[in-house]
Amino acid sequence: MRLLIRALTVVGVVLLVGVAGLVGKAWWDSRLPSSYSAMETGVLDYGGGPSGDHAAHPQLVVDRLTGPQDGEPDFRTTLIAAETGDKWAFNGRVPGPELHVRQGDLVEVTLVNRDIDDGVTIHWHGVDVPNAEDGVAGVTQDAVMPGERYTYRFLAKQVGTFWYHSHQVSSKQVRRGLYGALVIHSGGSGPPRTGIDRTLIVHDFDGKPALNDVAGVQRLAVHPGVHVRLRLVNSNNGPERLTLTGAPFTVVAIDGTDVNGPTTIEGRTLDVGAGARYDVAFDMPEGPVRLGVAGSETALFLSRDGTGELDSPPELPIFDPATYGRPRTTIFDGARFDRTFELKIGKKFGFFDGKPGRHWSVNGEIFPDTPMYVVREGDLVKMRIENDSGSVHPMHLHGHHVLVLSRDGKPTSGSPWWVDTLNVASGEEYEVAFRADNPGVWMDHCHNLPHAADGLTMHLMYEGVSTPFRLGGDDHNDPE
Ligand code: C2O
Ligand code: CU
Repeated sequence: MRLLIRALTVVGVVLLVGVAGLVGKAWWDSRLPSSYSAMETGVLDYGGGPSGDHAAHPQLVVDRLTGPQDGEPDFRTTLIAAETGDKWAFNGRVPGPELHVRQGDLVEVTLVNRDIDDGVTIHWHGVDVPNAEDGVAGVTQDAVMPGERYTYRFLAKQVGTFWYHSHQVSSKQVRRGLYGALVIHSGGSGPPRTGIDRTLIVHDFDGKPALNDVAGVQRLAVHPGVHVRLRLVNSNNGPERLTLTGAPFTVVAIDGTDVNGPTTIEGRTLDVGAGARYDVAFDMPEGPVRLGVAGSETALFLSRDGTGELDSPPELPIFDPATYGRPRTTIFDGARFDRTFELKIGKKFGFFDGKPGRHWSVNGEIFPDTPMYVVREGDLVKMRIENDSGSVHPMHLHGHHVLVLSRDGKPTSGSPWWVDTLNVASGEEYEVAFRADNPGVWMDHCHNLPHAADGLTMHLMYEGVSTPFRLGGDDHNDPE
């Protein structure tokens, strides 16, 4: 008996030491090195396509993948990042200056960091720029430190509503004010379309939503019959519900892509995911119109003389882009996909950078064991995004627009629904598609930026492309 007890004790101790050893190893392995390459993160995932030999291919280096280096820019400006009171601002304003350019313009923006200690970059959210102009610290450039400058040059090929923001410590810097709108107007030398064209960025200040820099009601006098376009941008970390009442309207663009054959709707709530944009348009009626941020007093109020009232509406049905507008053929009709990727978001117990707890996971693994998606230029790619994490995740792939094919197994049936930031609610499942036509190393992450900082970050890498930049270390690169 004594012998048995002793034997059992020994077995118990051995088991305990073993388990402690395994937990210790998991902890140890999860710690991120002080400096590392984005290319070292993630488990290579070829999505069923050829895996090739990465090293055997001619190497394209990210910092060579620039926009045009020669030629006079059509649009040139300087954005100076600096502390302004309790905010961080571009050119002393939050949001930063609204940039308006024309399609086809060669855009040149020089970023100057006056005194933001962590460094700054500018990412052109939704603009599929060449990789070196993408503004991701530690992936496409080094963070621009106080006293330094960096020039971005790219051709404005798309038309629509975009925004820009720092992609260095973005979870802190966007909230503090380092962001602004970028509008690319359609080309041609004719006069711009007459009417009202306003960009409104929803952003929380001290917990209260504002439209641009005003928390509360803004008033605008608009004559009946005038065409009004409102470009709605959400720079917050969670979805924002916006209600437009008083006029029938159309949703003319989503994430900077025109909707095909938009039909007139009335009395809808627009659920704008974090990072996403909706452009709405209407002809000013006789009576007032109100665009409000649900759950707050903040609104834009339009009427003939700018006065009057319009109550905030009761709950309205949510606008659904999956069934809106007229279908049109796309490059993916009947296509054979070269690769299919899975992106299953969950939560699990484990270690993230040495911290134990319940962390975001992708395909069952915690960062940096999340996937590194590998493609070849020209590939048609399908991605299945699933969310079983209990929270909403606005997933944003840099450098590409993706077409939503289906939601919860049901094919989309309206206009082609192109997005750069897809709001994926818990329990939802999407199939999206994109063409690999922009070589580089691209972030693919949740635009709830604290989630990205907590590990909901991946990359899409083109075969043969490598980045010389490093995360962490002496360059202080920390994009999330
Ligand atoms: Cu607007 Cu990587 O983000
Ligand atoms: Cu998220």
